[in-house]
Amino acid sequence: MRRLFPVTDQTVPTPSGGSPLGARDDGSDAGQDREWSLDELADAYAYPEPGPGEPRPWLRANMVSTLDGAAQHEGRSQAISTAADMRIFGTLRGLADVVVVGAETVRLEGYRPARARAEFARRREAAGQGPAPAVAVVTAGLDLDFSLPLFTSPLVPTLILTGAAAVPDKVAVAERAGARVVIAGDGTGVEPDRAVRALADLGHTRLLTEGGPRLLGQFVAAGVLDELCLTVAPMLTAGDAQRIAGGPSLAVPQRFALASLLEEEGFLFGRYRRP
Ligand SMILES: NC(=O)c1ccc[n+]([C@@H]2O[C@H](COP(=O)([O-])OP(=O)(O)OC[C@H]3O[C@@H](n4cnc5c(N)ncnc54)[C@H](OP(=O)(O)O)[C@@H]3O)[C@@H](O)[C@H]2O)c1
Repeated sequence: MRRLFPVTDQTVPTPSGGSPLGARDDGSDAGQDREWSLDELADAYAYPEPGPGEPRPWLRANMVSTLDGAAQHEGRSQAISTAADMRIFGTLRGLADVVVVGAETVRLEGYRPARARAEFARRREAAGQGPAPAVAVVTAGLDLDFSLPLFTSPLVPTLILTGAAAVPDKVAVAERAGARVVIAGDGTGVEPDRAVRALADLGHTRLLTEGGPRLLGQFVAAGVLDELCLTVAPMLTAGDAQRIAGGPSLAVPQRFALASLLEEEGFLFGRYRRP
């Protein structure tokens, strides 16, 4: 892993391959190609410090795409990911209060509860966070297997984000299984801005969404996405796979600013923020 952007005097090694010129005071060598510890990744992906007064929620998405824009291969994202991508995936979870995910991704990817990882324990405690992020499943139909560990044995109760018109019997099944049902819409569906507010009302301000594309497209369209952590896999797949964000297109493309870019084995790990 090495940092390509922002460009610092550490980004490009000296031609001799020795130590970079002008080593930073902290002695870091972020421009050198070596495996980063989870602690270094956590520093690189830290959520912005909350401003004075009421901390405002920050919604970041973490997605992976091939060069030709595929967000999945044969219905899963594993084939287009890599070990470094999974380390960043784990780091982003380690920093988050809650992981927001669409029900189809939960069904297709066989979601399990988030783990408490020793590597993030101290950092989470200092940030006033529990041992692991909650998982919040966005669903209108609540057609989920509530006997799965995601619902029956998470460290932190799994949330179901749904609309006020969700079928009461299904809501009751979810609650009996141990899930906490949170209403964030007037119909059966969830309204993206209400989902963000409802999570903030529960004290969750460091929000991470892992998609899928149909859910992410709605966060983008509603203008509530603050940051996109995008892995670009050096792969081509062709075909008709979904892109990372679906649904109707925006009237005007929304511009994001590159905040950082890391690289490992040709995979690019970008971090883009809403300006
Ligand atoms: N490349 C990546 O980084 C990445 C990340 C995640 C997923 N994926 C891939 O993406 C695919 C799945 O993604 P997807 O886009 O098809 O589905 P998705 O966004 O994960 O889930 C769609 C489902 O979420 C629920 N939902 C979405 N918006 C809602 C709203 N406003 N209100 C209430 N419920 C809502 C609905 O669930 P109900 O049907 O239960 O009502 C809907 O069917 C999989 O192949 C997965 O591997 C890729």
